[in-house]
Amino acid sequence: MAAKVKSSYICQTCGYASPRWMGKCPDCGAWNTLVEEIIPAKNAKRRTTLAMQTVKLLGLDELPVDQEPRISSGYKELDRVLGGGLVKGGVVLIGGPPGIGKSTLLLQVSGMLASKGLNVLYISGEESLSQIKLRAERLEMSAPTLKILSESSLEIITGVIEATQPGFVVMDSIQTVFSSDFESLPGHIGQVRYCGHTLTKLAKDKQIPMFLVGQVTKDGSLAGPRVLEHLVDCLLLFEGDDQHVYRLLRTAKNRFGSTNEVGIFEMGSKGVTEVKNPSAHLIGNQAHTASGTCIAVSLEGTRPLLVEIQALVTPSSYGTPQRNATGFDARRLAMLLAVLEKRLGLHFGTQDVFINAAGGLRLIDPGVDLAVALAIVSSLKEQVLPPKTAVFGEIGLSGEVRSVTQSAQRISEVSRLGFDSVILPVDTAKGIKRPDKLNLLSASTVQNAVDQLSNSSNFRGSRI
Ligand code: TYD
Ligand code: MG
Repeated sequence: MAAKVKSSYICQTCGYASPRWMGKCPDCGAWNTLVEEIIPAKNAKRRTTLAMQTVKLLGLDELPVDQEPRISSGYKELDRVLGGGLVKGGVVLIGGPPGIGKSTLLLQVSGMLASKGLNVLYISGEESLSQIKLRAERLEMSAPTLKILSESSLEIITGVIEATQPGFVVMDSIQTVFSSDFESLPGHIGQVRYCGHTLTKLAKDKQIPMFLVGQVTKDGSLAGPRVLEHLVDCLLLFEGDDQHVYRLLRTAKNRFGSTNEVGIFEMGSKGVTEVKNPSAHLIGNQAHTASGTCIAVSLEGTRPLLVEIQALVTPSSYGTPQRNATGFDARRLAMLLAVLEKRLGLHFGTQDVFINAAGGLRLIDPGVDLAVALAIVSSLKEQVLPPKTAVFGEIGLSGEVRSVTQSAQRISEVSRLGFDSVILPVDTAKGIKRPDKLNLLSASTVQNAVDQLSNSSNFRGSRI
């Protein structure tokens, strides 16, 4: 049956293969994305002979070790999300909504690498040379070895890269590049796939670290084919909304390092700068404390961060009470409210509940559960939590406080920021060494954590 098929239809979005053409891809649901691909006639015997002549099989112990040092991008936060720096021949796709600062960040990185003497080629298919010059002037950059090309023809771009052999290439953005082999417009799925593939292959062949900028659609996914994500070594997402000054660079995929790392940047009048001490920024003004505020010790990637959690519990004016969470999972909030109702006897049936994580962070670490619960209790009872107290622990369905990963790192971050106390899961507290001047309050249940706060010696406000 399979031998008779001479052509197959491949979905350009998800790679689904079908023996006949269909208007809608049954796998990803996209319309008009199936494109015919001819399958060459098979000759199994010839293939076997050819393979055995050209291929030498190696055992795991015989594989060559790649000891290439990482190239630092000049930005610690970027190196962190890349898993230690740039890799030769490594291709990084960086996605993010328009105006978030992708071009700014990559022009700065290009300038930084060029100032270290690297031959850098920055290609923009979106901006003219004068626009790039204006931006560079605003960033007060001067880097003579940084070469700029405003071009979108794939043939010219690959020609320039092959002729100049740069040590670092930025292509801003992959959706603007087009090949004259295709009749479709730049940004079309076939074009993006082909251009992405050609540039990636060139980067690998020439051992050039390369950054590709990818545009993001309204729903937040990368525009163009998903195959691009599979093709590249590393996928970074630049996030943060226009209202927040912080910009978060997240790893969604990394062949050379861990995922879930976060780099924190700030957008200012002179471009993108790194946030050196993010916890200090995210805990807000500790002198001004209000009810419903609690400091959580969250883990973003491998780094502990102190984040201010704000909760507002108010009587609802409509029949159905509202549950609204920014930066925290809404289903997790529903679970926490159910636990508080059942285990602490609190009532939220006629209350609206709003949760907000400071700084535009999206907290996925279960270790922030206890801080969210305490912020809700504090707002409901209109009582202020003790100052200089941080909290971490996951909450289970029976209201128990469960231990979480990397407790020692979390505690040392709390201690580093000069906090007085930390409320932590009882199991964690047993095996931990107490840093000087830090008061450890262990909690077995949420009720127990509330009681601990009420009895805490540094708790001078009204009692919960
Ligand atoms: P840009 O890098 O063009 O975004 P992207 O390439 O992701 O679309 O960033 C544009 C925004 O950044 C724009 O709103 C202006 C702002 N900006 C600053 O705030 N400071 C600066 O120094 C620069 C160069 C831009
Ligand atoms: Mg741009």
